[in-house]
Amino acid sequence: MSATAEPGRTSTDSTHAPANKQGFPPGPPPRKAGVVESLRYAAAFFFDPFSFVGSRFERYGDIYYAPSNGVGLYVLKHPDHIRDVLITQSDAFEKTHTAFESLSTVLGQGLLTTDGEVWRRHRRLLGPAFTKRAIEACVDRMVAETETTLGRMRIGAQWDVGAEMIDLTLRIVGRTLLGIDLASEVDTVGRSMRTFQMSLAVPRSTPKALKWPVDRTNVKALAALDGVIDRVIAARRASSIKHNDLLQMLLDAVDPEDASVRLSSREIRDELVTFLLAGHETTSNTLSWALSLIARSPEVERKLRQELDNVLGSRLPTAADVDKLVYTDRIVKEAMRLYPPAYVLARRAGRDATIGPYSVSHGSEVVIWTYFTHRDPRFYPEPTAFRPDRFAPEAEERRPKQSYLPFGAGPRACIGRAFASVEAVVALASLYQRFSFRHEERELPKARPRITLSPSSKLRLRFAAPR
Ligand code: HEM
Repeated sequence: MSATAEPGRTSTDSTHAPANKQGFPPGPPPRKAGVVESLRYAAAFFFDPFSFVGSRFERYGDIYYAPSNGVGLYVLKHPDHIRDVLITQSDAFEKTHTAFESLSTVLGQGLLTTDGEVWRRHRRLLGPAFTKRAIEACVDRMVAETETTLGRMRIGAQWDVGAEMIDLTLRIVGRTLLGIDLASEVDTVGRSMRTFQMSLAVPRSTPKALKWPVDRTNVKALAALDGVIDRVIAARRASSIKHNDLLQMLLDAVDPEDASVRLSSREIRDELVTFLLAGHETTSNTLSWALSLIARSPEVERKLRQELDNVLGSRLPTAADVDKLVYTDRIVKEAMRLYPPAYVLARRAGRDATIGPYSVSHGSEVVIWTYFTHRDPRFYPEPTAFRPDRFAPEAEERRPKQSYLPFGAGPRACIGRAFASVEAVVALASLYQRFSFRHEERELPKARPRITLSPSSKLRLRFAAPR
C-alpha cells in the first residue's frame, strides 16, 4: 500500500507476519481429518462466521493461510492484496473457486460463474443493456414500480421491509430488463431464493447423509424457478412488440465471429436465472438496510429530506434528477459499506501468482472478505457508525480505491452496478418523499451471511408522515 502514516493518523499499510517456514502467510494449524472435526469446523463457521473469520484476522493480520482438504486457502481483506487479486493479476485468479461450484448448481454457466472465452463473449454481448443511456431509459419504470409499492402504504401501518423490497426489486428487474410483470411470480422466486440460501449455507464439508433433505428441496426449488424462466421466454416469443432490453439481446444474440452461432436455450436460461437472482436480492438488501439505518438516524433523515425538497419538491424523480441526488447516493453507499450485499469474493489461482509478499501456487483458493475491509478503522474511523458523508469526494480521495468494493473490482466487477445504484437512489428518494419511517426495535438485527448479506430477523418499520 502506498499511503504512508500521517501524524495522528493510523497507518494504512497492510500488516502481515513474515512468511512461515513453507513461505505461506501465518494461519491456524492444519485441521485434523475426520467427521467430528469437519462437523465442529462447519458448526463454528455456520453459526457465527464473522466472529470465526474476524478473530483469525485479529490474530494473524491482514492475510492468513488456512489450507483445507489439501487445497491452499488465502483469506484476505487489505486493499493492496485485493488489488493484486482482482486487478493487477486478474488473469491469474479465476472464478472456478469451490464456492462457485455450489452456486453453479443454481446459476448454471451464467455471467457470474463462468470464465474464459464464454464469459468474455457474454459480457461483450450484454454490455449494451447497461450503458448510461439504457439505464436512464429505465428510470421512469423504476419510479412507477416504487409508486405501486407506495400505493399499498398507510400511515401507522407496520412494514416487513425485507419482503416489500424483494417484491419491489424483483418487479423492477422484471419490467426493465425482461419486459414482463413478475408480480405473480414473486412468491415462487422468493421461495426458491430462500431454499438456495439454505443449501449454499451448508458447508461443503458436511457429510452427504446429513445434506440430503436440503438437496431434495433444492431440486424442487430449481424446477419452480425454471418454470418461471420458461414462462418469461414463452411470453416474449409470443409478443409481437419489438423490445430493446436484456431479454431481447439474449434471444437475438449472434456471435460476431460466426453469425450462425446463437446462444443455446441453456445459455439463455442460465443468463436469465443469473440476472434474476443477482439483480434483485442485492439491491433489495441495500434498500432494506438503508431504510433501517435512516430510521435510527434523525440527522441523516433531516439532510435527506432537505435534498429531496430542494431537488424534487413534490414531483416524482426523473432520469435528469439522479445526478443531483448527491446525499441520497451517499446514504446508499454508506449502507453498502456497512452491509455489503456481496460480503465476500472468491477466486482460484489458475496459474502461479503472488499476493503481497507471498507466492500463491496454481490451484490455491482465495477468499476476500470485503465485509472486514469496509469495517477497517484504518480506512473508516469508528467503522460501525452510519455516516453518509464518508462518501463526500474529499473523504473518498483520502482512501485507497480498493477499500470500498460493494461491486467488486477489475474485469469481473458487477455489470449491474450503475443500474443498481440508480435504482436504489430513485427508490429511496420516492419512498422518503412520501413517508418517514419509525423503527420498532432500537437495535438493528445482526447481519446473516448467506448468498447475500441479509438481516438475521425481520426488519420492521412503521410508516409516519414526513418529519
Ligand atoms: C446493490 C446491488 C448489487 C451489488 C452489491 C452487486 C454486487 C456484485 C459483485 C460484488 C459482483 C462481483 C462478484 C465477483 O467479483 O466475484 C457482481 C457481479 C455481477 N452482478 Fe452484481 N450487484 C448488484 C446488483 C446487480 C444487478 C442489479 C445486476 C443485474 C441486473 C447484477 C448482475 C451481476 C452480474 C451478472 C455479475 C457478474 C459479472 C461478471 O462476472 O462479468 N448485479 N455483483
